[in-house]
Amino acid sequence: MAREQWKSQLGFLLAAVGSAIGLGNIWRFSYLAYEHGGGAFLVPYLVALFTAGIPLLILEYGIGHERVGSAPLAYAKISKRWEWLGWWAVLFVMFGIVLYYTVVIAWCLDYFVLSFDLGWGDDPNGYFFKRFLQVSGSPAEIGEIRTPVLAALAVVWLINWAVVYRGVQRGIELANKVLMPTLLALIVVLVAWSLTLDGAGQGIAAYLEPDFSRLSDPKVWIDAYSQIFFTLSLGFGIMIAYASYLPRRADITRGALLTAFINSGFSLFAGFAVFAVLGFMAQAQGKAIGDVASQSIGLAFVAYPKAVSLMPGGNLFGALFFLCLVVAGISSAVSIIEAFVAAMVDKFGVSRQKLVTLLSVLGFLGSIVFTTRAGLLWLDIVDHFVTHYGLVLVGILECFVVGWLFNLPQLRRHINRVSSVRLGGWWDFLIKLFVPGVLAVILAGDLVNELSKPYGDYGWAAVILIGRDWLLLTLVGAFVLACRPWRTGSHEEGGRSDA
Ligand code: PHE
Repeated sequence: MAREQWKSQLGFLLAAVGSAIGLGNIWRFSYLAYEHGGGAFLVPYLVALFTAGIPLLILEYGIGHERVGSAPLAYAKISKRWEWLGWWAVLFVMFGIVLYYTVVIAWCLDYFVLSFDLGWGDDPNGYFFKRFLQVSGSPAEIGEIRTPVLAALAVVWLINWAVVYRGVQRGIELANKVLMPTLLALIVVLVAWSLTLDGAGQGIAAYLEPDFSRLSDPKVWIDAYSQIFFTLSLGFGIMIAYASYLPRRADITRGALLTAFINSGFSLFAGFAVFAVLGFMAQAQGKAIGDVASQSIGLAFVAYPKAVSLMPGGNLFGALFFLCLVVAGISSAVSIIEAFVAAMVDKFGVSRQKLVTLLSVLGFLGSIVFTTRAGLLWLDIVDHFVTHYGLVLVGILECFVVGWLFNLPQLRRHINRVSSVRLGGWWDFLIKLFVPGVLAVILAGDLVNELSKPYGDYGWAAVILIGRDWLLLTLVGAFVLACRPWRTGSHEEGGRSDA
């Protein structure tokens, strides 16, 4: 059967941007910028974008396009022994990240509805933690399922199912062609509106005013590099799968540059809305800006609702904001499911429709643990391990497999043959040495922190049983899948530059 293909390069670009722009762009980026010296954070952020983000995105697009396959197939075509790496990436994303990512989208959906009558009342903090989530005392106290979250979660999985079920062109491409322009329109309205609020200027000043003394703190750099990886959806096998659906003639480097610039541009732009609102709140409550912003999750579900309640016409503003998060989140969630579906179809030749239906049911069931009263705690632990270790390890190994086991100059020649922006030998250096080096430093720093005390004060048992074992389980699954025999002949075909 012929491989599915995007209808147009624009369709591919929108889908890739849809995956990249997600929950992380709106609150995670703003929060990091704020915490790490406002405008000064942009320096490490941009350095990370150019020295690691873009080179690795080119690598993922290049390998997906040249080897013509999802992550496991692409790696298997480089070296049979490394097929498991591709499976590991798509497994911990499908049975890790997307399970809690969809729950956060479900919260946003609930908050979208709550916005209309400011359902969180006068105490958004108490509402979010004590009434909405009813967070329990520890990860071991699972408690009951929160039905409003469960209901929204069902809707989210239904949308995921409907989109991925319809395939690459009629599902993912079409959905993103609608969702991305919608998202752009929403964010423009939101930013314009937020700039008219009293005190907005004060917030923007906090956003853009650089504090260069922060640049000497290694944590700022580590956070900048990890944010770039997460925000570009790198190391998940997603961009590899998406690029494998490109036709023979496709401009790889231009696609990567556009994806990266649109994604970061969106973050920078959305930051204006977030900070203008913080400025407004500081003014309305007579507080310093530093005292209104709380932690990342708090920023969206506590600080924002509070501001919305103070604002004339706030309910509509709140609805717009949460709708933005839902739209951005859904287009990322479908990309995760597609990365896994592509891998299964490539190896086992299963029917997309049946698989997607099964995965959506399993995904929904698997997400349920994050809708319980311990959900927020579990989410925090799993997210920490998957993004800090899974992601970083896959990134390092990916550079190793492609940079050292594969003929990197051959890949570069292939990319240059089809692309408009040409790569020089500097790219080889970044992939072979620089990017894995930076990632290794991040990993070492994380490990030292990790071993000094249990993450987030949850206690060792919870951190080991939930966090570490989640990763190990997906790793075992990866080896099992890699050892199964191929049901299709796809792995015996070569790459596009072998001919
Ligand atoms: N890039 C997305 C964001 O910034 C995150 C994401 C994670 C996307 C996992 C896909 C898969 O939110």
